[in-house]
Amino acid sequence: MKKIIDVELKTRKVDFSKCKTNLLAVGLFSDAKGLDKLNAQLDSQLDGAIERLIKLGDFKPKEGTSAIVYGNKSIGAERVLLVGLGEKKKATLDTLRKAASNTAKKSVEMKIETISLALHKAFGGRFDLSAMGQVCAEGAYFGSYRYDEFVTENENGRADSLKVEVIDSDSAKMKKINKGLLSGRAIGKAQSYARTLSNRPANVINPAELAAAAKELSRGSKNLSCTVFDEKQMAAKGMGGVLAVGSGSQNKPRFIVLKYSPADRAANRQPTVGLVGKAITFDSGGISIKPAANMDQMKLDKSGGIAVLATMKAITELELPVNVYGIIPSAENLPSGTSYRPGDIITTLSGKTVEVQNTDAEGRMILCDGISYAVKQKCDIIIDIATLTGSCMVALGKYMAGLMGNDEKLIKQLQRASKDSGEKVWPMPSSDEYAKEMKSKIADLKNIGSKWGGACTAAAFLRQFVGDTKWAHLDIAGMDIFSKPTEFSAEGSTGFGVRLLTTYLMNLVAG
Ligand code: BES
Ligand code: MN
Ligand code: ZN
Repeated sequence: MKKIIDVELKTRKVDFSKCKTNLLAVGLFSDAKGLDKLNAQLDSQLDGAIERLIKLGDFKPKEGTSAIVYGNKSIGAERVLLVGLGEKKKATLDTLRKAASNTAKKSVEMKIETISLALHKAFGGRFDLSAMGQVCAEGAYFGSYRYDEFVTENENGRADSLKVEVIDSDSAKMKKINKGLLSGRAIGKAQSYARTLSNRPANVINPAELAAAAKELSRGSKNLSCTVFDEKQMAAKGMGGVLAVGSGSQNKPRFIVLKYSPADRAANRQPTVGLVGKAITFDSGGISIKPAANMDQMKLDKSGGIAVLATMKAITELELPVNVYGIIPSAENLPSGTSYRPGDIITTLSGKTVEVQNTDAEGRMILCDGISYAVKQKCDIIIDIATLTGSCMVALGKYMAGLMGNDEKLIKQLQRASKDSGEKVWPMPSSDEYAKEMKSKIADLKNIGSKWGGACTAAAFLRQFVGDTKWAHLDIAGMDIFSKPTEFSAEGSTGFGVRLLTTYLMNLVAG
């Protein structure tokens, strides 16, 4: 198996035009009148090549576009990559993150090994330098990522590693950028880790393998521990939901609990947060089997659980002063003679009984046990994340995740984290009207509602397991995958949720 491309990141104080590099990336806004200071300086050393390129109309600096100008004896760079930033008034930190992604993606495609980013210069003093360092690092990881572990043929060849440096000529500025770069590196690395685990198919990753990965993550760590319950231990605890969903597969379910408890006493001033992630390693639908088209994408039905796992990795590396549980119920949903069936009544960990009307509504069956476990651990805040419903995709498309919950402040905090991280969410309801649809005549609940509002009824089902705990739910169906490559990323798993959840926790400790 081939190793996923390695990213090395650092900052360097150097004069922009003297910087020796394979590629120097600079940003340009589409509505700017003339070149900014840095670009004008480079342009004069390049004998006006940038101006000519723009005048000829060969490059309009829209977001997602770029153009190459080749270097000469007057500058250190072999290539200057002009990266489009779109309209200046619309620019956010995500514009810079995407510009870094775009640059990193092109560089991997061109098999370039060392790149120098001066993209932040175009933004002047608009954003905090540390924040700009962070998004450059996150973007470099995001854009350079490609999943090719199992590709043995050489035509897909690429460099083993990409060396990325963010450069500035001012050492005080460099220091600030470097601080953010270190956070961005931890987050970017965690997101790539999530993408690789998610991209691995179900014959490679099953619940036991995912549990092994979680164990491996906690190995040798002082602050992160991992406990895994197998089916026998789950049966003893009464985790009927996870057991029912896992009953059809030879690959037995696991219940994974990560606990991050930093030594820093400041952590005890924060609420204990429980992150609960759905990890269905393959969702065939079970006895209520899915149609064949695109069923392969259901290997990504573990993405919520893996987002939780990777968030635990990031916060451990960042040493954030907050206590966090990462709770990951994992099962494979397959049809067989031992599967759970429509009509079955399941007793969940909470004691509540659920009438199964569709075995394809399995996510809520495992999440309810995960949520109950978080309640039993006395978490003050519970956030669950899951590729839960096709309805959420119908409602929001593939641009935003659904955000439901029972606490206004928590919803606002997640919206803020969404803005900061560039991982978009949109609020949706999960109120009593929806909960009413989930009542069963022969059990406490049933696992599907009516034809309409499926994302909301699913959330309303989960809401009934949180009691008085502050709770939010992220439905990331559709956000888990890029079906086609974009300017900013290769296709496959997106790692959605890692930046969002980590940013939420970072903001929480920053106060
Ligand atoms: N994992 C799916 C939801 C999903 C669909 C995620 C498409 C990503 C892309 C989930 O387990 C599911 O099958 N949900 C059903 C629920 C229904 C039976 C109430 C759905 O959305 O159709
Ligand atoms: Mn399903
Ligand atoms: Zn599913």
